[in-house]
Amino acid sequence: MTYVITAACVDVKDRTCLTQCPVDCIYEGERSLYIQADECIECGACEPVCPQEAIYHDAELPVDQLFALDSSAQFFSMVHPGRDAPLGKPGGSKPIGVVEGDSDAVAALPPGE
Ligand code: F3S
Ligand code: F3S
Repeated sequence: MTYVITAACVDVKDRTCLTQCPVDCIYEGERSLYIQADECIECGACEPVCPQEAIYHDAELPVDQLFALDSSAQFFSMVHPGRDAPLGKPGGSKPIGVVEGDSDAVAALPPGE
């Protein structure tokens, strides 16, 4: 179980969620942010602060946003440009910074969605 960032974050990236996470498990890609499911402690602090209402508990994902679970998992299992290994479970996003890539599903979304 984890929290998940959905399509409403794409091309917006408000980033307020980053300031709330006590375990630094929200990572930034080019077009969206992603929660590392194995690092998320399900504190729920990020969900209410997103002005886009983009963050859901995975058990409460709207049907049309179910893709975000696999999308998020793929973000951490794929090898992004300029890297020689997947992000995996880095243990904190601050040292990682902005990742030059997105999941395939996010990369395929039209601009502004
Ligand atoms: Fe995105 Fe909302 Fe965070 S727009 S960056 S999920 S505060
Ligand atoms: Fe997880 Fe959000 Fe808390 S990502 S650890 S529920 S701030």
